[in-house]
Amino acid sequence: QLSGELGSWITVIAADGRVLGDSAEVSEQMENHANRPEVIEAMRNGTGTAIRFSTTVRYNMLYRAFHQTGAGQERIVRVAMPLTDIENIIRSFRKSLLSGLALASAFGLLLAWAFSHHLSRRFQRLVQFSGEVAGGSFPHDFFPNRGTDEIARLEQHLNDMSQKIRENLAQVIAEKDKSDSILRCMIEGVLVLDPRGQVLVMNERAKAMFHVPDGKDIHWLSILEMSRHPEVHKILEEILTSNLSEQPYSKEVELDEERWFRVNAVRLRNKGGSFLGSILVFHDVTDIKRFESMRSDFVANVSHELRTPLTAIRGYVETLLHTPPPDPQDSRQFLEIIDRHSDRLSRLTEDLLTLSDLESGKVHLSQQLLDAGNLIQRVLEVFWDQAARKKIKLTQEVAPGLPKLAGDLDRLQQLFINLVDNAIKYTPLEGVVSLTVTQTAVHNGGAPHIEIAVRDTGPGIPEKDLPRITERFYRVDKARSRDLGGTGLGLAIVKHIVQAHKGELSIESTLKKGTTVRVRLPADTAK
Ligand SMILES: Nc1ncnc2c1ncn2[C@@H]1O[C@H](COP(=O)(O)OP(=O)(O)OP(=O)(O)O)[C@@H](O)[C@H]1O
Ligand SMILES: [Mg+2]
Repeated sequence: QLSGELGSWITVIAADGRVLGDSAEVSEQMENHANRPEVIEAMRNGTGTAIRFSTTVRYNMLYRAFHQTGAGQERIVRVAMPLTDIENIIRSFRKSLLSGLALASAFGLLLAWAFSHHLSRRFQRLVQFSGEVAGGSFPHDFFPNRGTDEIARLEQHLNDMSQKIRENLAQVIAEKDKSDSILRCMIEGVLVLDPRGQVLVMNERAKAMFHVPDGKDIHWLSILEMSRHPEVHKILEEILTSNLSEQPYSKEVELDEERWFRVNAVRLRNKGGSFLGSILVFHDVTDIKRFESMRSDFVANVSHELRTPLTAIRGYVETLLHTPPPDPQDSRQFLEIIDRHSDRLSRLTEDLLTLSDLESGKVHLSQQLLDAGNLIQRVLEVFWDQAARKKIKLTQEVAPGLPKLAGDLDRLQQLFINLVDNAIKYTPLEGVVSLTVTQTAVHNGGAPHIEIAVRDTGPGIPEKDLPRITERFYRVDKARSRDLGGTGLGLAIVKHIVQAHKGELSIESTLKKGTTVRVRLPADTAK
C-alpha cells in the first residue's frame, strides 16, 4: 500500500541478503541481494544509493537502501524508483526554474536598462556643461535642482561654481575696462615690458608714437622689432642694465623728426624683490622744446636787431664828438645815418611792443562797422608816392554791394599797410601791385566773409620758406630785407591781427612770378 502511495517499489532485505518482502514480487523467488551495491553500502554506512538497469522491469532504476536495526533484528529497507519518473520530475523542475530565471533576468535587464538610461542622460548633461565651460561660457542654473544623490550634489556644486566664476569674471572684466579706459585716455604713452623687453601693455598713445598699425597684435612682440629707432634701443638697454631702484630713469629723446619725448622709466618688482619688467612713460615735450627754442631764438634775434642800429648810431656819434669831419656836408651825412638807424630802432621797439600786446591778448579791438573799399583806399593813400618812385602800378578792384566788415580800423589799416609795404618793397621797378576785395562764397550755412587779396609781380617766396614766413624775424633773404629797412616782424603782426579778428590768412607764391596774400575777415551779418 505504501509502495502504491509513493509510486515506488519497496524491498525489505535481511542482513544476509535474503529478500524478506517485496512490494512487486514474491520474495521467496527472488535471488539473494547481499551483493547489491546499495545493500553493501547501506550495511557499511547506514545508507546506500545505486542506479542500475533492472532486469525485472527492464529500465533504469534508482535504488536507495537504509540499514535498520531494532527489536534485535537487522535489516535493509530498499526503495526503488524508475529513473524516468525522477528524470520527469527534474525536467519539470528545470523547466519551471528556467522560465522563472528567464522572467527574472528579463525584468532585471529592463530595470538595468532604465537605470543606465537615466544615468547616461545625466552624464550627457555633465558632458554638455563641461563643453560650455571649456567654450568660455558659464551657464546660469544649468542643472535642475532636484534629488539628493551624489550626482545631484555634484550638479548643485557645478551650478554654484559656474555662478561664482561668472561673478568673478564680471568683476575682473569691470576692473580691466577701468584700467583700459584710464590707459586709453592718458595723453602720455605708456609701455609695460617684461624682463626681456617684450610688450605686455601698450596704450593707444604709445601705439601712435611707435606707428603700430591698427589691429596689430603687439603682445609679446619685442620693442626692438617694433621700433628701429636707435634711441629706443639705447633706452631699453639702459633700463635693462641700470639699477633703477637707485635713481629714477629720465631722458629726453627725439623719436620722430622734431618730435621730442621725455621718457621716465621704473622697474617693476614683486614683493619678493624679483624683477618683473619695466614701465616706460613717454611725455610729449615737443611744444615745450619748441617754445624754449623760440624764446632763445627771439632773445638772440632781438639783441641782434637792436645791436646793429645801436652800433651804427654809437659809431657816428663818437666820430662827430671826438673827430668831427671838417666838411659840414659829411657831418650832415653822418647825422642822416644816425637818424635812419634811430628811426629803425623806434620802429623795431614799436613793432615788438605791438606784437607782444597782440600775443598776450591785451589789445582791445574795437568792433566798428567798416567799408572794405574805404579801408583799402586809406591804405593805398600811404603808398602812392612810394609806388610812383619805383614806377609800380598800384591798382584796386572792389566788388559792388559788399557787406560791411566788423573790426578795428587802426589794426586793419596796420595789417594792410604791412602787406602793401611788402608787395611794393619786394617788387622790382615797373611791377604791378593790385588789391581786390570780394565776398567769398558761403558754404554749408557758414558766415559770409570778405576777402582782400594783395597781389604783386615780385620775386616770390620759395616754397620751403612759406610755412615759416609769419614767424617773428623770419626773412627769406636777411641781408636784402635789412637793406630795405625790414625787421621781419611785419607778417607776424599781420598774422596776429587776422587771428584777433577771427579771420584767415593764406599766402600763395610762385618764384619769379609774384605773391598773393589773401586775408578773409568775417563780414557783418547784421546787414
Ligand atoms: N610780397 C613779398 N614778396 C616777396 N617776399 C616777401 C613778400 N612779403 C614778405 N616777403 C618775405 O618775407 C619776409 C618776412 O616779411 P615781413 O613783412 O614779416 O618782414 P620784413 O618785410 O622783412 O620786415 P618788416 O615788415 O618788419 O619791415 C621778408 O623778409 C621777405 O623775405
Ligand atoms: Mg614787411
